[in-house]
Amino acid sequence: MNMALSPANEVSETEFFRRDVIAGLRKEQKTLPCKYLYDKEGSRIFEQICELSDYYLTRTEAGIFRDHLPHMAKLIGPDSVIIEPGAGNCEKVEPLLQALEEPRAYIPMDISPEILLAARTRIRRQLPDLKVEAHVGDFTAPEAWQGVSRQSPGGRRVIFFPGSTIGNFDPEAARQLLADFAAHLSTKDGILIGTDLVKDTVVLERAYNDSEHVTANFNKNLLTRINSELGGDFDLDAFAHRSFYHALKQRVEMHLVSLKPQRVHIAGECFDFAEGETIHTENSHKYTLEGFAEMLREAGFTLVHQWTDGGGLYAIHYAEIR
Ligand code: AVI
Repeated sequence: MNMALSPANEVSETEFFRRDVIAGLRKEQKTLPCKYLYDKEGSRIFEQICELSDYYLTRTEAGIFRDHLPHMAKLIGPDSVIIEPGAGNCEKVEPLLQALEEPRAYIPMDISPEILLAARTRIRRQLPDLKVEAHVGDFTAPEAWQGVSRQSPGGRRVIFFPGSTIGNFDPEAARQLLADFAAHLSTKDGILIGTDLVKDTVVLERAYNDSEHVTANFNKNLLTRINSELGGDFDLDAFAHRSFYHALKQRVEMHLVSLKPQRVHIAGECFDFAEGETIHTENSHKYTLEGFAEMLREAGFTLVHQWTDGGGLYAIHYAEIR
């Protein structure tokens, strides 16, 4: 396993977190980077979100894969190398790996070596002929791609990026990320990527304000994390979860609203909140089929196919470098 991160980096991880929190809370619109939602507890709560009936994304995407895997596998062709940035437990890729014709290798990338190790063991047991080459690191950092070969000795190299993760990047950053992905590929290589689609506001807002308040717990866990890792004194009962669809920006915004005027202390700094003031914690961008095809084009890809569910809720796009 390529260990781009060592335990010695843990100290600076907390320091990066501290700097990002202080910088974000000093802004006029207080903001926190959404990547910090995913500590161990946040990742556990996110898994619960994926099971919610209000949160249609995960099961809809899984349904599209189930219905169209043979077509996807045919387009990708034999002897492929599948690269998965931010692979996590690598569960989503398994049906694809099973459907592909003699895939040559699978390259999962994730910041957690423990999760990657467990996944590698599981996949090797299921597909003993497949080479699994795990890379530890943050896929948005160039170092994580060190050692990921640009040339395939056989079939296509395909980046697998499901889960609408691209939606959590603002459009300019999303375009740049796709262009960075393209730069790691060669002619004929491809990308298989999932996006949530623009739809009725009621459906979108229900998905991010679920009736079981799991999304609220997910959002507020960020304050718990600041309290425990940075010695903050956020009063969790004095903040409320709020999510809404911003139609012009085609995104669901997630915020934490201060329920009263209050002062919060974090790592020797203090931050004042007016009643109703918010911390913006996440954007989840929604796309039209045409809009995402255009973004793929701008990043250097040629669209090959788009699959959606019957309700037009979600899409999986396959595009290649031509
Ligand atoms: C991970 N990501 C695609 C989720 C989303 O839908 O934007 C994160 C999430 N936030 C609230 N609920 C789910």
